[in-house]
Amino acid sequence: MYLGIDLGTSGVKALLIDDGQRVIGSASGAIDVSRPHPGWSEQDPAHWIRATEEAIAGLKAAYPAELAAVKGVGLSGHMHGATLLDDQDKVLRPCILWNDTRSFKQAAALDADPQFRALTGNIVFPGFTAPKLVWVAENEPEIFARVRWVLLPKDYLRLWLTGEHISEMSDSAGTSWLDTGKRAWSESLLSATGLKERHMPSLVEGTEAGGQLRSDLAASWGMGSGVVVAGGAGDNAASACGMGTVGEGNAFVSLGTSGVLFAANSSYLPNPASAVHAFCHALPDTWHQMGVILSATDALNWHSGVTGRSAGELTGELGETLKAPSGVTFLPYLSGERTPHNDAAIRGVFAGLGHESSRVVLTQAVLEGVSFALRDSLEALKAAGTTLSRVTAIGGGSRSRYWLKSIATALGIPVEIPADGDFGAAFGAARLGLVAATKADPLSVFTAPVTAETVQPDAALKAAYEDAYQRYRRLYPAIRAAY
Ligand code: XUL
Repeated sequence: MYLGIDLGTSGVKALLIDDGQRVIGSASGAIDVSRPHPGWSEQDPAHWIRATEEAIAGLKAAYPAELAAVKGVGLSGHMHGATLLDDQDKVLRPCILWNDTRSFKQAAALDADPQFRALTGNIVFPGFTAPKLVWVAENEPEIFARVRWVLLPKDYLRLWLTGEHISEMSDSAGTSWLDTGKRAWSESLLSATGLKERHMPSLVEGTEAGGQLRSDLAASWGMGSGVVVAGGAGDNAASACGMGTVGEGNAFVSLGTSGVLFAANSSYLPNPASAVHAFCHALPDTWHQMGVILSATDALNWHSGVTGRSAGELTGELGETLKAPSGVTFLPYLSGERTPHNDAAIRGVFAGLGHESSRVVLTQAVLEGVSFALRDSLEALKAAGTTLSRVTAIGGGSRSRYWLKSIATALGIPVEIPADGDFGAAFGAARLGLVAATKADPLSVFTAPVTAETVQPDAALKAAYEDAYQRYRRLYPAIRAAY
């Protein structure tokens, strides 16, 4: 048995698989995001541990014998968060999350130093870890002075699970401190932010062992000794392991809190100019590119909060037949945007409203806005040398058939729906746990699920979607100028 633990933005999911990778079951624990100021997004790391305990307790109640038989654990987590610890491993302040954009000025200053793009292969985005540390140094110097360790969120969970300060390549590539081509910390990038390599965890590959489960935890979960904890992965690379997105040109679109268009690469292909992310994959000698939009289901959830209807009710009202764009356009920049704009200050907008613009029309515009943002990412990947011919859909938002049709039509490529099953980050993490514990060949483990159905672009709406996309493209510079 193998256990995957995914620390998501809205909760922890723990999932058990057997030696044949069959999913035995899963359980979760909820976490909140606190937004004390506009643009801020924080979590208390203690809540991650509480939610993990809750999820494991759920598994223990339902599958005690299977949980007790676990030999390997894999970790996945939301990326880029700055978890700051003192020399006693005490948390110094709430973790600053991936969608927190307070450090946009610090990010721009680091990005202007050419060594950052040259060594990391990425723009220094405000959501990345390094500019957050500069923000802390400038705004909370007494905290910065006490920083002994900087850990990514899932690696803080690892510290609790194993007692060790360890990270792996895929998540570390999102810090702006990793030499992504060399897969090693860059002393020179660290020192540009007032840190040294000793502040960082040691690095393993995602498929390698990265610690052993503490004996007291193993005992309380009914497990034996010597349970291996894999290096694991950032949530996108972990999802890729779950989906078998590991070979050149394989791709997925993830509709989670954020939206991601992810492509696996057998070589390192950076292109910061198009605001594409180029990161290490969770397997050795493998990299990946992705376009990241900050609000995907988060945009629908915002609309749901405003209208007082659940996301399911809202998409249900729309039906399943794709409609031509109505003329109302929504820009989903509720937290600013990464790909393609790298703009922390921009905010969302509804444009083209009329008396006839009903709730249903607004829902349609919200879904289309996210589809067009993903089209921007597709164009950015193209500029970085990767042309996609199909993508597989994952994440909570992919339950809406309407949304998938809209994405297929906006991207102009088929969207594949995997056969029923759980192929997300927790499953990928469990697979990483299996590989680390058994030393199996990752490529034989990270296989793709069977495709249940393929959603084709709607040829009849191609022109209308293209018009609407061009209108969407024109709005960003106009809104930028207005604000
Ligand atoms: C990726 C990113 C998000 C988070 C949230 O760069 O910021 O996808 O990992 O899950």
